[in-house]
Formats: sequence, C-alpha cells, structure tokens
Amino acid sequence: MEIVGLTKRNLEQAVNLVEKIFPSEYEEEAGKDELPASLNPDAYRDYLERTGITPGLKYWVAVEKGRVIGSVGLYCYKEDQGEADWLGWFCVDEDFRCKGTGTKLLLFAINEAKKHGKEYLRLYTTDDEDELDSHRLYEKYGFKVIETKPWTGRPELNLTEFIYELNLKAQT
Ligand SMILES: CC(C)(COP(=O)(O)OP(=O)(O)OC[C@H]1O[C@@H](n2cnc3c(N)ncnc32)[C@H](O)[C@@H]1OP(=O)(O)O)[C@@H](O)C(=O)NCCC(=O)NCCS
Repeated sequence: MEIVGLTKRNLEQAVNLVEKIFPSEYEEEAGKDELPASLNPDAYRDYLERTGITPGLKYWVAVEKGRVIGSVGLYCYKEDQGEADWLGWFCVDEDFRCKGTGTKLLLFAINEAKKHGKEYLRLYTTDDEDELDSHRLYEKYGFKVIETKPWTGRPELNLTEFIYELNLKAQT
C-alpha cells in the first residue's frame, strides 16, 4: 500500500469509494464535489462558496496494486482558517480494513497538517455504528471531542454529530 496525491487518473476510483462509504445524499458537503474541487477549485467555486471551504484543499489516496482502497484530505473553512485544518473523507474500503491502512492515512494527514503550522486539526463524525471504529482511532492519537449536536443529515436516525479536535502544537 502506498499513499499518493489525488490525481485526475485516480479521481474516479476515489470518488466511487467515498460515495460508497459516505453517500452524498445525506451530506451537506460531498466527497463527489470536494475531491475534484481539490484538483480544480475554479470549476467548483459555487460549492466552495456555499460550504465556506477555502480553495487550498488537498486529498490523498491509499493505493494497492493500482486500486484506490482509502482516502484522506485536509481542508479549511474561511471562518477558522487561521487556526485549524479539517480532516476530510477519511475512509478505507471495507474489504481492506484492519490492516493498518486507516492508521497510516490518519498519521499521514496529521503530519501534513503539522507542516501547515496550524494549531488544530478538527473533524466531524457521528455515532453511526459504521463510524465508531474511527472514534477509537481518533482518541488513540489524542483527538478530543469539543462539540456534540444532533446530526441533521438523516434526522430520522437520531444520530449525534461530534467535532473532534487534535492540538497539533501540543504534539511532539
Ligand atoms: C476508520 C477506518 C478508516 C479505519 O480503517 P482501517 O484500515 O480498518 O484502520 P486500521 O487497520 O489502521 O485499524 C484502526 C484500529 O481499528 C481497529 N479496527 C478496525 N476495524 C475493526 C473492526 N472491524 N473490528 C475491530 N477492530 C477494528 C484496529 O484493530 C485498529 O485498532 P488498534 O490501532 O488499536 O489496533 C475504517 O474503519 C473506515 O473507513 N470506517 C468507515 C468510515 C469512517 O468511519 N470514517 C471516519 C468518519 S469521520
């Protein structure tokens, strides 16, 4: 497995993976827009304007034998871009989980965020059963919950949205 930058060549596979794991019909922000926006922000100006995401977003994929098996990205919101990067569309294909790929992608993104000199790395997650493995991973690497609120994506499921934060400056 290697982690490489998102490119036009691996974009379609990456979007298909992210859509499979986070169907965009339930998300205000969507991987199918955000991944291509990272390659061509001008073409996605409306999306970026609507979500408040700034144009410098960047995505990477985990690739095994030519197949995209995972994804992670970093983006900023206009409102807190001076202090925080946000972790985007972090996932590993179900057939390839529990082999350390998720850990490698998360540590890779933390390292990239540190290079940006920001104070915090933040992320959204929910208590959907499928996302609970990721909470253990976040907490293992020092992320703390800083906010909880009802998740508005699918109100009928009564899920809670969590914002996790890692203090990058406190990390050695
Ligand atoms: C979270 C996710 C990216 C982890 O990917 P992964 O490649 O399985 O991660 P790893 O192999 O590095 O495993 C991470 C930890 O979870 C544990 N784990 C992962 N899947 C597990 C499973 N199904 N059962 C038990 N433990 C599991 C691993 O043992 C490991 O724990 P450890 O570090 O204490 O040994 C993956 O489960 C995923 O894509 N989940 C759905 C999407 C998601 O929730 N994304 C984050 C939302 S914000």
